[in-house]
Amino acid sequence: MPLYNPSKRQDKRTVTTNDGTITLYSSEFDECYHSTNDGALNESLNKHIIPAFKLLDTQKDEINILDICFGLGYNTLATLHYLQNNPIQSKINIFSPEFDKELVVSLKDFDYPNEFTPFLHIIEELSESGFYSDDKLSIEILFGDARETLPKIKSKIDIVYQDPFSPKKNPLLWTREYFATIKAIASKEVILTTYSSATSIRMGLYENGFLLYETPTKEVRSGTIASLRVLNLKSIDMELKKSRNPQAHSLRDEMFCLN
Ligand SMILES: C[S@@+](CC[C@H](N)C(=O)[O-])C[C@H]1O[C@@H](n2cnc3c(N)ncnc32)[C@H](O)[C@@H]1O
Repeated sequence: MPLYNPSKRQDKRTVTTNDGTITLYSSEFDECYHSTNDGALNESLNKHIIPAFKLLDTQKDEINILDICFGLGYNTLATLHYLQNNPIQSKINIFSPEFDKELVVSLKDFDYPNEFTPFLHIIEELSESGFYSDDKLSIEILFGDARETLPKIKSKIDIVYQDPFSPKKNPLLWTREYFATIKAIASKEVILTTYSSATSIRMGLYENGFLLYETPTKEVRSGTIASLRVLNLKSIDMELKKSRNPQAHSLRDEMFCLN
């Protein structure tokens, strides 16, 4: 099974999601970039940004965020939108892998929701150079395959938005070995947010020492929160899940011929 098909990478079309915000459909992955049911902006805010910032201790000089992967930049821009309404003192550093450079270049012309209008100058800079920086914010798009760029990150990551295409279509960003790379660059306080609630994905995180919780939201379909510390959330008992389903296993690189 070929895992990526660059010849189809630029074959995309716009799709309006249920909250009225616009996403893309990718022919390469045969999937949309966001849940059309939950809505692109709504999903980004309620599955990733709000839970992450509510759970993180924001009394820090700097907060390092890993946005997997940049795509249309909704998670990065929704973070800026959230911070505009919930100001915190910390400097925000966002790192975001992305192997579709042509997509990033095209984003200066993308039809974003009004909530992102204050940040259009940032999108323009990212679109041109993959980098933006001011006193309170830095954003760096790490062009290339995430499996190669992630190990080079030197900062300790406090928040991970784990938002690739689905495990079925984008498996190399969901394996046990991939989550080991995430753990290696994570701070002890890390909060990882993801839309996936699949047992195989939770096992990949659990086998790397992450504790698992249900996403605390009623706004969107629940996903998973993972952390290396105990959180005051509804926890997921992975030992019970394993005893009830002894066949369950994490995804591994070797299943996709990557060693
Ligand atoms: C579901 S979309 C991300 C949506 C994004 N979070 C947003 O809010 O717009 C997944 C993105 O991952 C990128 N991608 C998939 N596999 C990758 C890899 N191995 N390395 C880097 N980028 C990858 C795709 O090009 C696509 O832009």
